[in-house]
Amino acid sequence: MEPVLPFVDLAASPEVQRRGEDLGAFEFTYRAEITNVYPLTAQERLYQVQLVDPKQRQQFTFRPGQFVMLEVPGIGEAPFSITSSPSRHGDIELCIRRVGNLTNFLARVERGIHVGIRGPFGTHFPVGRMAGADVLLIAGGLGIAALRSPILAVLENRSRYGGVDIIYGTKRPSGLLFTYQYDTWRQFDIELDIIVEQPDPGWTGPAGLITKVLEAKIARANGSMARRTWAIVCGPPVMFKFVCSMLISAGVPMERMFVSLERRMHCGRGKCCRCNVGSTYTCLNGPVFDYWTVMNLKEAI
Ligand SMILES: Cc1cc2nc3c(=O)[nH]c(=O)nc-3n(C[C@H](O)[C@H](O)[C@H](O)COP(=O)(O)OP(=O)(O)OC[C@H]3O[C@@H](n4cnc5c(N)ncnc54)[C@H](O)[C@@H]3O)c2cc1C
Ligand code: FES
Repeated sequence: MEPVLPFVDLAASPEVQRRGEDLGAFEFTYRAEITNVYPLTAQERLYQVQLVDPKQRQQFTFRPGQFVMLEVPGIGEAPFSITSSPSRHGDIELCIRRVGNLTNFLARVERGIHVGIRGPFGTHFPVGRMAGADVLLIAGGLGIAALRSPILAVLENRSRYGGVDIIYGTKRPSGLLFTYQYDTWRQFDIELDIIVEQPDPGWTGPAGLITKVLEAKIARANGSMARRTWAIVCGPPVMFKFVCSMLISAGVPMERMFVSLERRMHCGRGKCCRCNVGSTYTCLNGPVFDYWTVMNLKEAI
């Protein structure tokens, strides 16, 4: 049976108008519908989620790197990065891997079910500040879920940036996400490098770790990264640690590197203390941090 959310009409609420500045507004749950579901791999699916109320849909804005809490009543609630372009407002996409209670339930649903959406929460990748510079976007594994929104934001404003390079790596070719989009992305005068750690017999691309591609890129840049490059790195901490060390060696300042630090989260708004690294709330002060801040957060990585 389809779960039904208690519905609160938020459209006329002044709180909704202030959303973005006022943390109090984050208490609200938007009623939303899963309008489409696409399998991406055996473990991940792409969910298109639309806020039901057209006014709320229009007012809902977010920035690349922010996340929402998705709730299925009676099943659970969890944070997911918004993977679609910020120009899409309240018609968002989420790329979700099945790992537990909620995500296994979602792996079985089809379009048409109603869910609750809270947010958007957290800090964002400052793609606006990167205008005029070269942008390097690097993802490992499911990290592409958080990276796709800044990728789309940069591509939609392609003329504002210098060189745009995307490096994406997974363990196996079967784990690659968004394969159907690579050709489209390449049409925007970018370099897209895809690398897998364990190639199967049909794989014709490069094999190895992301750092192998990055090493070659740094060598080709011949010192120019220090002056021109901003980087966004999404993936497991072990991966962004190595990637960021290489970028530091190439002269890229830590303040121009951004990572997403994902911790277990419950409330998403600084109330439950589940997501803390020391005294820092990763739901409020993060999940996006510049690498300088991460290096100064004890036990962050
Ligand atoms: C800011 C943020 C953004 C996220 N974005 C995405 C996304 O775009 N796509 C996506 O698939 N997932 C994302 N996640 C992770 C997602 O929230 C968890 O996988 C989710 O809690 C799983 O819910 P569940 O009920 O299915 O699993 P549970 O039953 O709660 O847990 C299943 C297993 O996953 C582990 N687990 C749960 N949460 C995390 C976590 N945050 N880190 C590591 N292990 C965890 C548990 O320890 C357990 O072993 C994000 C997490 C954060 C904090
Ligand atoms: S998730 Fe509750 S304080 Fe951050």
